Amino acid sequence: MPIMTLRPILIHPDPRLKKVADPIAEVSAEIRKQADDMLETMYDAPGIGLAAPQIGVLNRLIVMDAQRDPEAKPAPMVLINPEVIWESDEKNVYEEGCLSIPEQYAEVARPKLVRVRWLDVDGKTVEEQFDGLWATCVQHEIDHLNGTLFIDYLKPLKRQMITRKMQKYKRERARG
Ligand code: NI
Repeated sequence: MPIMTLRPILIHPDPRLKKVADPIAEVSAEIRKQADDMLETMYDAPGIGLAAPQIGVLNRLIVMDAQRDPEAKPAPMVLINPEVIWESDEKNVYEEGCLSIPEQYAEVARPKLVRVRWLDVDGKTVEEQFDGLWATCVQHEIDHLNGTLFIDYLKPLKRQMITRKMQKYKRERARG
């Protein structure tokens, strides 16, 4: 049994959530440990996706499991250096949330289908097409690697409102 560690999730606004993360040069034991920790942290939250910058690690690793059927087996995925290599013109709108922006949701339009290439935990190149919630999730998480949050797609007023709520949330949390 690998020993997994829950990692604290950064809450917006935080400068680390606005940085472009670095590519991972080698899929080492340390990277695999990071992936295990991130999956544990994501399931614990609970959430359907988590990107390394959200735990303050500025490398290009995301985890996700958009399997929503509680009867189905978990479908954890680890994507290292993921890249969107094709996207459909057709868009899909989902009400998105983010573990770094708790309890705030908004509709975002994104390509309905995307083809993504990444390295798996064995360092092997994988390519897959995503649809539905999986497609939204993988695009949302890849955005995190480029310092983009889902609220960046909203109108400035709505974005500022959410940011102010998060500032208040963080102040209250700090006071205990
Ligand atoms: Ni997010």
